[in-house]
Amino acid sequence: MQSVALAVAEAVAAEPSRDAADGHVAAVSAEPVTAARSRVAADGHVAAVSADGVTRRYGEGETAVDALRGVSLSVARGELVAVMGPSGSGKSTLLHILAGLDKATSGEAYIGGRAVSGLDDEGLTSLRRRKVGFVFQFFNLLPMLSAEQNVALPLKLAGEEIDRGWVDEVIGKVGLSDRREHRPAELSGGQQQRVAIGRALITRPSILFADEPTGNLDSKAGREILELLRSCVAEYGQTILTVTHEPRVCTVADRILILADGLIVRELDHVSSGEVRSAIDALER
Ligand SMILES: Nc1ncnc2c1ncn2[C@@H]1O[C@H](COP(=O)(O)OP(=O)(O)O)[C@@H](O)[C@H]1O
Ligand SMILES: [Mg+2]
Repeated sequence: MQSVALAVAEAVAAEPSRDAADGHVAAVSAEPVTAARSRVAADGHVAAVSADGVTRRYGEGETAVDALRGVSLSVARGELVAVMGPSGSGKSTLLHILAGLDKATSGEAYIGGRAVSGLDDEGLTSLRRRKVGFVFQFFNLLPMLSAEQNVALPLKLAGEEIDRGWVDEVIGKVGLSDRREHRPAELSGGQQQRVAIGRALITRPSILFADEPTGNLDSKAGREILELLRSCVAEYGQTILTVTHEPRVCTVADRILILADGLIVRELDHVSSGEVRSAIDALER
């Protein structure tokens, strides 16, 4: 029974990588000269995550879609960066490539300075299980497991010893100490997303990716999730890259990158939610 649960969990974890099997392989050869630049954050340290000229083409010939057309970015350790942009602008594709769930058509993604395309299967598995945490819009929890079991699952999958103290701390951090025995169906949307964030934090990932973590929540629960992400940065020095449509993300994000048609077209910092909203409105018009 347990092994079935684990098999399902692997499938769930692998779900976003469905596109990676389409035959596209990232350029593995020599890194472009400019790559070194994007691997170094503004503070001179190696970036927690970076991209250098990443492109992603789906399909071939006349029906090909260029989801990313050359994205370069760099996120420093302990930074919370939000990615915003119209539907179809390539936000999910970008996160999947940075997290090693999908492969770039060209260009390179780096986690902690290491080229993702240079990893073999074992390296990729280790990256997905230990180095990055991923939070989805629809939570992707295992329904038969309790909140606590869902949080601890990545440690189990990685065959690691379960450190009870750390599991307790994470469950407390996400505010679920009195809900740990509940199954997902017995939790609100906001609570389910807290479980998913706990699951993403449990391996102490060097970077946490969140793809519209507030997209399925009411505004109060959404705000609380954004505040929880911010407090992970403050308390654990966690690095976070999150996609969101919530203009109030500007109150928690250090920077906002605006993606349009596969390119980063603007970078905003220290702006009001009204300014974020008008930047997004301008693109959607
Ligand atoms: N598996 C796929 N096959 C073909 N096209 C895809 C696939 N996944 C995404 N796309 C296309 O790539 C573009 C970017 O998609 P996506 O990254 O999901 O955007 P966003 O998350 O910003 O809404 C869209 O035009 C989308 O239709
Ligand atoms: Mg998306």
